[in-house]
Amino acid sequence: MPIELPFSQACENNKAPILAILREVFDEPGRVLEIGTGTGQHAVHLAQAMPHLKWQPTDHPDAAELSRLRLDQAALSNTLPVIELDVGTPPWPIDSFRWAFSANTAHIMAWKEVEQMFHGIAERLTVGGAFCLYGPFNSQGQFSSDSNKQFDQHLRTRGSHMGIRDMDDLNTLASSVGLVLAKDATMPANNRMLVFRPSVD
Ligand SMILES: C[S@@+](CC[C@H](N)C(=O)[O-])C[C@H]1O[C@@H](n2cnc3c(N)ncnc32)[C@H](O)[C@@H]1O
Repeated sequence: MPIELPFSQACENNKAPILAILREVFDEPGRVLEIGTGTGQHAVHLAQAMPHLKWQPTDHPDAAELSRLRLDQAALSNTLPVIELDVGTPPWPIDSFRWAFSANTAHIMAWKEVEQMFHGIAERLTVGGAFCLYGPFNSQGQFSSDSNKQFDQHLRTRGSHMGIRDMDDLNTLASSVGLVLAKDATMPANNRMLVFRPSVD
């Protein structure tokens, strides 16, 4: 019987716009750490379209098995086997990488874990690297749409630790770990792509 792969319609919709940005940012060969790979749709689409990259998919130990299904089936030459990575549990099982990408994770993780994600990435990002964080974000305490406001309410009923993060808080966090917001791209469906780079001073 064919294996039913995990599937997200949102990933189908956003993978092309995400690729358009990542193509510009991940412009040199290097390893990409993906945090919270989920269904694997982004990993497969993005790695296939950017053969100069070596894609390292990861997910929380509770979810990594799910991520493996699509990646194993795709068997791309530039994806590495999925590894378990809980950003809140040191040590991380990866030493360094030039690029990092994470989609729709900051509002699922507790804020403490978002802090740990930024810390872990900043510590391991090599010179000239970048961290691309995709998702819905607030700006100066304001929701960017009614649907994001409703989504935030939904998240908070699922778990009090979840919620849409504010760009101001993310920028403060980034600068505390030596990263700076280099690009803020508006994406379809009221999402954004935030590109952080190591600060030069
Ligand atoms: C909403 S899903 C997003 C999945 C995929 N990136 C996407 O855009 O569809 C959130 C992901 O964050 C992962 N996640 C949650 N907490 C995590 C943690 N502490 N460390 C690593 N990943 C975590 C979940 O396992 C899940 O894969």
